[in-house]
Amino acid sequence: MKAVVYEEYGGPSLVADIPVPELPPGHILVKMAYAAINMRDLNLRAGLFRNIPPPLGTTAKTVGNEGSGTIVASTDEQQTYPIGTQVYFREGYHLPAGGTWQEYVLAKPQDVLPIQPGKDLREAAALRTGYQSALVALEIGGFQAQEGATQLVLAPAVGSAVGNAAIQLARVYGAPEPITTAGSTAKAEKARASGYQNVIDLTQESIRDGVRRLTNGAGVDVALDILGGPYMPDTIAALKPGKTIVIMGGSAGLQVSFIIFDLVAPRKKMLPLNLIFESPEVRWSALQRIDRLWHEGRVHPLVDRVFPVSEAAEAQRYFQQDRPFGKVLLSFE
Ligand SMILES: NC(=O)c1ccc[n+]([C@@H]2O[C@H](COP(=O)([O-])OP(=O)(O)OC[C@H]3O[C@@H](n4cnc5c(N)ncnc54)[C@H](OP(=O)(O)O)[C@@H]3O)[C@@H](O)[C@H]2O)c1
Repeated sequence: MKAVVYEEYGGPSLVADIPVPELPPGHILVKMAYAAINMRDLNLRAGLFRNIPPPLGTTAKTVGNEGSGTIVASTDEQQTYPIGTQVYFREGYHLPAGGTWQEYVLAKPQDVLPIQPGKDLREAAALRTGYQSALVALEIGGFQAQEGATQLVLAPAVGSAVGNAAIQLARVYGAPEPITTAGSTAKAEKARASGYQNVIDLTQESIRDGVRRLTNGAGVDVALDILGGPYMPDTIAALKPGKTIVIMGGSAGLQVSFIIFDLVAPRKKMLPLNLIFESPEVRWSALQRIDRLWHEGRVHPLVDRVFPVSEAAEAQRYFQQDRPFGKVLLSFE
């Protein structure tokens, strides 16, 4: 079977022919349809977490934390899912024979969730990380994830997995149209044409000025920071006094400098999220709600482009350099 492997940290990503895993008792084998690319996959490959034990690090030479496919073999005595069930993965890094970037993935029944017939397997592969992270982050930030939500959310990077999921979730719960950003004028125009009303074009306006303009100076109730770097001070400034910024990542830079009084004087709060270390109850609660919303057709993960697995190296380059609008997937079909 085909698997995307790397032999050393920072080394090239190769497509290898390796044996299909044997099934120990209590396992299932999933024939993959699609697997998604996430920044963490590339960080693992680069060796950023090399001395960190699972669940943050991994020793597997095949990464991939998300994906969808069909169960083709099972040694699960409970028969949790019949052969032929379409499933998507809850998490991929702790799986016994490597992550989701391979044609056949060995797992336990509890590692997957069933996909109802008729749902799009590409969306299934693009759902979990962005939406689960966004929902947990919104709630950490004080967002009331229930019908009639009133909080105004700042969810940067309209085309990102987390940012776009946060926008769709805020809309589902009836919150005011969130404010978002785009890193290029072309992306901002594409977003506006697709119905995103409050897009700050970061080549024309700062987050600080854009939020001030869009809220008549009032600010937002919850801010997710996925950009980091030079954007974090403006994201802090965009908050109303007393409200919370949730620190999630640093797509635009890991080093940040801001004026402490901008946080302390208006008593704004800064809380970190690391989804992996959130309690199983918090993660499961978020995932159940995400699963339901997706199956009801109320949220739609964006897919920018699908590459055949043979082009996995180019897919990773595209993901990292070309600023996609939605997720980038590998196809095994
Ligand atoms: N803490 C957690 O638990 C957790 C969970 C999930 C994700 N994360 C982190 O949150 C961040 C966002 O995740 P994601 O999956 O939504 O990422 P993503 O889909 O790759 O999107 C990242 C966005 O960042 C923007 N960006 C700005 N500067 C960039 C640069 N120099 N290079 C690439 N992109 C840049 C891009 O938007 P523009 O083109 O509009 O600039 C891009 O859409 C990542 O850092 C990820 O590792 C953290």
